[in-house]
Amino acid sequence: MPEYPNSVVKTLLNHKSIRSYIEKEPSDDIVETVVRAGQQAPFVSQMYSVLLTRKGDLPFDAPLLFTICVDIHKLETVMNARDWEVKTNDLSLLLFGIEDASLMAENMVIAGESMGLGSCFLGMAPYYADKIIDDYDLPEKIFPLVQLAMGYPEEDKPTRPRYPLDFVLFEDEYPEFDADQIKPAIDKMDEGYMSQDYYEENDAKIPLQGDEKDEYTYENYGWTEHISRKWGQWYENPEDILKQFRKCGFNICPDKED
Ligand SMILES: Cc1cc2nc3c(=O)[nH]c(=O)nc-3n(C[C@H](O)[C@H](O)[C@H](O)COP(=O)(O)O)c2cc1C
Repeated sequence: MPEYPNSVVKTLLNHKSIRSYIEKEPSDDIVETVVRAGQQAPFVSQMYSVLLTRKGDLPFDAPLLFTICVDIHKLETVMNARDWEVKTNDLSLLLFGIEDASLMAENMVIAGESMGLGSCFLGMAPYYADKIIDDYDLPEKIFPLVQLAMGYPEEDKPTRPRYPLDFVLFEDEYPEFDADQIKPAIDKMDEGYMSQDYYEENDAKIPLQGDEKDEYTYENYGWTEHISRKWGQWYENPEDILKQFRKCGFNICPDKED
């Protein structure tokens, strides 16, 4: 089989997040095509909306900033027009809404790349949902899931590594991992990111919390150290994110109220 059986797979396999953009503004036609392609993703119930900003200081000085939201308000509006009420619990609605919004978001990335645009997700939006509510005047039952900076790339980077396929695809049975599988997976990821000076270029080393001396420099700080520092230190207590959900009108733990 050729490396790229067709242009769609070629676009997918050449994806890379872009963090530097030229000043050129994408046309309205391009923006609408990106969002239309996003919409055409498979959906559970189109439980999403996309907010767009083209003004102000946007992340990475990108010309476009999309905020992809889970939108249950719109679902309710449509159901109410048919004299129905939403009865499903908020956690289930969020789960399916996150699936809808995520599929849409990734379609937007790939549509953009196929037209020469680059993009980069910004994953902290849920943690400042309250600010996004104010900025866009959001009614209840809309949750900002993720933001996507987009524009014409100023940088040309190599693709970033992924786990080996045998650490991802398991036919018929999930394996018990052994060192022969784990080490090559870790090495591939760490060496791949370090060979690009990825964390140094993005100044993205996560500091250690507490008094422990940090033995890592950008010479040996790789992807597995990065994810360990993230998920081994951040947000042990769910209260911050639950509070943001409640601010958006979603009550995942119905016995808790602000
Ligand atoms: C949900 C999500 C949130 C992300 N948040 C950020 C972010 O806040 N800042 C950033 O620079 N990159 C962010 N990224 C981009 C990832 O760092 C990037 O996709 C990953 O390193 C793989 O690199 P690649 O996209 O170039 O293949 C995010 C990606 C996803 C899917």
